[in-house]
Amino acid sequence: MTMSKATGHDLPSLKKILVIGSGGRENSLAWALKRCPEIEEVWVTPGNGGTEEIKGCKRLTIKEEDIAGIQKACSIHQINFVIIGPEAPLAKGVADQLRALGLAVFGPDAEGAQLEASKDWAKNLMNEAGIPTAKHWTVTTETEALKILYDYGEPLVVKVDGLASGKGVTVAKTIIESEEAIKEAFAGRFGSAGRKLVLEEQLQGPEVSLFALTDGEDLVLLPPAQDHKRLAEGDEGPNTGGMGAYAPAPLLNSTAIEHAKKTVLEPTLEALKKQGIDYRGVIYAGLMITKDGPKVIEFNCRFGDPECQTLMPMMGPQLAKVLYACALGKLSSAPKLMISDCCSACVVAAASGYPNTPRKNDQIRVKLNVSPSVQIFHAGTTKDSNSNLFTSGGRVLSVVAQGEDFDKAFSKAYSGLEQIHFKGMVYRTDIGHQVRQFFTRES
Ligand code: AMP
Ligand code: GLY
Repeated sequence: MTMSKATGHDLPSLKKILVIGSGGRENSLAWALKRCPEIEEVWVTPGNGGTEEIKGCKRLTIKEEDIAGIQKACSIHQINFVIIGPEAPLAKGVADQLRALGLAVFGPDAEGAQLEASKDWAKNLMNEAGIPTAKHWTVTTETEALKILYDYGEPLVVKVDGLASGKGVTVAKTIIESEEAIKEAFAGRFGSAGRKLVLEEQLQGPEVSLFALTDGEDLVLLPPAQDHKRLAEGDEGPNTGGMGAYAPAPLLNSTAIEHAKKTVLEPTLEALKKQGIDYRGVIYAGLMITKDGPKVIEFNCRFGDPECQTLMPMMGPQLAKVLYACALGKLSSAPKLMISDCCSACVVAAASGYPNTPRKNDQIRVKLNVSPSVQIFHAGTTKDSNSNLFTSGGRVLSVVAQGEDFDKAFSKAYSGLEQIHFKGMVYRTDIGHQVRQFFTRES
């Protein structure tokens, strides 16, 4: 396979793309795709208040799972390529249904999306393929779960098997906390998603997100990114969707990336193929760098958010062709994806009360002028008929900046954030503390 020699001429022509989703991830994908020279229009549904701030991007109001609506829009606007951003529509089979209608889709079928939508399924796949991961027990009753916990004699990580909007994992510090999490899940806190639990031994070490684009046969890796899941400085406070990120994370150097490719990503793709799954989309490996080497903490079937916002400005103009080639099962015909060797920094501005009860409907004032090396990506924003922007969700927007080193990239991202105002705006001042020489806890 000599992917680097391909030019993309073997691929059908591509001018219009539909991105499904409404978050910062989809906003950054739309932005990066619109930068690709052959792309005339990027449509986003349901999008957010930032969609139409991007020249050449248009917003639709079709729901993520409205197949008939999506099909109709694709036919009206002559779109033949759809990218599905979030996990929920993937897990519900939106990609399968759109493919059956003849559209090229970036994103796995429901079967492949189980990599994220069922932790038990993903664990079995990892064990069968010999992929390094934490030891686990799958349980379907409280009695069984508590017996395993007491026999183990140490706190276990308690994970709801199904999708739980990022809230289904308890990393317990004590056996009592594990016990409480088990009891809450079986009492119905997560509905049917919590009827099956995965209990895991606790691993220790820093975490890194590694993304592989695949057409089901070949893989293209993106630079590793490090997310910051906790709400507050010093990695304290509740878990969130992610408060900021940076890339390339030096936690994985090129040798370690190659090692992760060989020990995690390639065997995962092989295991999927063995099950007859033609996986076309992103394999997101959440890795923990333990003293015994990298181990998989979780798989997701889509780009990470805010890792995607961090990575998109590093992508070359071949991005659209590469994603399209994945969707067509022709990655070997795609041009080589050029990736900038800059440092990219992303800081998320959230609404106060996030992640539990974010305030909404506050006006957002933006004085920041975006530049080739500074971007604003919208997430929980909405626009009124006078083009005034308002907050409408927990993670409101992010500022992303690039520089020749992390100090410069973060300095630009934080200066950018100072030009954005809304009541109750919350952000961490220590994003990237792992790679910055200087950072301050005051802001
Ligand atoms: P997940 O939703 O599976 O990514 O889990 C959320 C977070 O819980 C991860 O990012 C880790 O910080 C933590 N976590 C999950 N599994 C483990 C584990 N086995 N050991 C230690 N921490 C874990
Ligand atoms: N940033 C973590 C995630 O997207 O799941």
